[in-house]
Amino acid sequence: MARPIQIVPSVLPADFSRLGDEVAALEAAGVDQIQWDVMDGQFVPNLTFGPDVIKAARPHCTVPFEAHLMVYTPDVLAQQYIDAGCARLIVHAEACTHLHRTLSNINSMGARAAVALNPATPASMVEHVLDLVDLVLVMTVNPGFGGQAYIATMEPKITEVRKMLDAAGLSDTVDLEVDGGIGPTTIQGAAAAGANVLIAGSALYRDPEGLEHAVTELRSLAEAARV
Ligand code: DX5
Repeated sequence: MARPIQIVPSVLPADFSRLGDEVAALEAAGVDQIQWDVMDGQFVPNLTFGPDVIKAARPHCTVPFEAHLMVYTPDVLAQQYIDAGCARLIVHAEACTHLHRTLSNINSMGARAAVALNPATPASMVEHVLDLVDLVLVMTVNPGFGGQAYIATMEPKITEVRKMLDAAGLSDTVDLEVDGGIGPTTIQGAAAAGANVLIAGSALYRDPEGLEHAVTELRSLAEAARV
């Protein structure tokens, strides 16, 4: 049984002076959970949310939070983001010398562990840790900024990860997420390639008909594209 389609917003385009209201509005718009793009200014050339910012937003909505840790030190920071209210931590394979240990530690801390792959990183990088994650994230932009163009050449890699999950008997328990450049003209390619969790930032906030319309439209486009 394929995992359901989920539309998950990136908070990057939100009004940072009103994050409590912004996460409440996202929940009201029908999102399944909320992703915080955590950036350390080293792994990516940008700096964003510390754990206290996420902790402040946590009481303002009830949907799960996940932290996309675009950081070089996930082992150091993991517990802080769990304590801030993130139920899932997504670490980058490229940032982890001992990826198996990092993912195991996140699970032992009581959070759900997930792994992300940058565009140039092969799917094989996660082959031996699929039993430790409940989500694999295939980046469809180079991480660090919202509003970038979707890299369509990632679609074969999305399909490759989908086949790896199928072969391991994990497609009914592990999600396949894509992040970057997802909007009405790109979401169908990503969903048809095998993604079931779709991160959207700019596309939600630039919809003239509002967040709820954007979420509903993206969800219906993704569901229509499923193979
Ligand atoms: C990149 C970020 C973005 C963001 C989504 O590091 O992870 O991909 O979440 O940005 P949009 O949807 O605006 O491309």
